[in-house]
Amino acid sequence: MSDPLIRPRRLRTTGAVRSLVRENTLRAGDLILPMFVREGLDAPREIASMPGVLQHTEDSLVAAGREAVDRGVGGLMLFGVPETKDAVGSGATDPDGVLNRGLASLRAELGEATVLMADLCLDEFTDHGHCGVLDDSGRVDNDATLVRYREMALAQARAGAHMLGPSGMMDGQIAAIRDALDAEGFTDVGLFAYTAKYASAFFGPFREAVDSSLQGDRRTYQQDPANGREALRELALDVAEGADLVMVKPGLPYLDVLRDVAQASPVPVGAYQVSGEYAMIEAACAHGWLDRERTVLESLLAFRRAGATSVLTYYASEVALWLQRGLPEHLREFA
Ligand code: PBG
Repeated sequence: MSDPLIRPRRLRTTGAVRSLVRENTLRAGDLILPMFVREGLDAPREIASMPGVLQHTEDSLVAAGREAVDRGVGGLMLFGVPETKDAVGSGATDPDGVLNRGLASLRAELGEATVLMADLCLDEFTDHGHCGVLDDSGRVDNDATLVRYREMALAQARAGAHMLGPSGMMDGQIAAIRDALDAEGFTDVGLFAYTAKYASAFFGPFREAVDSSLQGDRRTYQQDPANGREALRELALDVAEGADLVMVKPGLPYLDVLRDVAQASPVPVGAYQVSGEYAMIEAACAHGWLDRERTVLESLLAFRRAGATSVLTYYASEVALWLQRGLPEHLREFA
């Protein structure tokens, strides 16, 4: 048997050579922090299935948003949890509704120091928990929902959002929202389209985060977990309709989709490490089964390697703090 002629291990022999040939790293500015603001809270409340993630009061929201931005986080994505819900999600378009108030407070505090984003979807605001309004037969009515999305977009733009994240998977939503914004002069408000969004079990803890009372499931509008190709069709549509950025969601179970979308997309691509992914890591780490820092950093780096420019993650603020302090020697490969 002859000795190997080619030795890939040569490029792994020392930290210096590994650093020299490293293809991807993490940067706080690539991370986007999803945040929840809940109406009628006296004090921030931890979400049981997402240890360490809070439903904020308006005050604690602003403080946590400021802290994240000071640590270098690239953007904030806000979700609202209203006290009362109804069939059409009235709270979503009320300028005094919890999400729009939260946006206004964050914008007043942070100005242009961050990219302030808003989840544009009705499910947090509807009593049936669906992402749109229902027709008489109980089906989610695509085109009637677009009318509500247009109104919601304007409310969020008026509240000070820099970028809106339509996450309802309605056909034509990007074009409808773009048109509504432009007609009112909000031509600089961007659209971060949830382009490939799957009907996923990994959104489970999010339901608790927004006190959702979903009846049924989302399989008539979110994508089938078995399919990759339709993500590229959704990408083509969202780009043609005017999306400024596109997103793949959930993250780790759909890295193949992320890679395909990243290779095909003419606009920047984001990945969303969703509530269930967070819960999974936290649960395993609570048992001591995974090394928490390494696991978190490795999971985020995977999105960058697969082609994501930005990563939405509940770890954004914490990881930004780690990066700001400087990673210890044994974690140097991540930044
Ligand atoms: C819809 C929306 C959801 C998430 C983000 N936007 C829930 C859903 O579509 O069921 C999930 C985020 C997460 O699980 O972390 N407004």
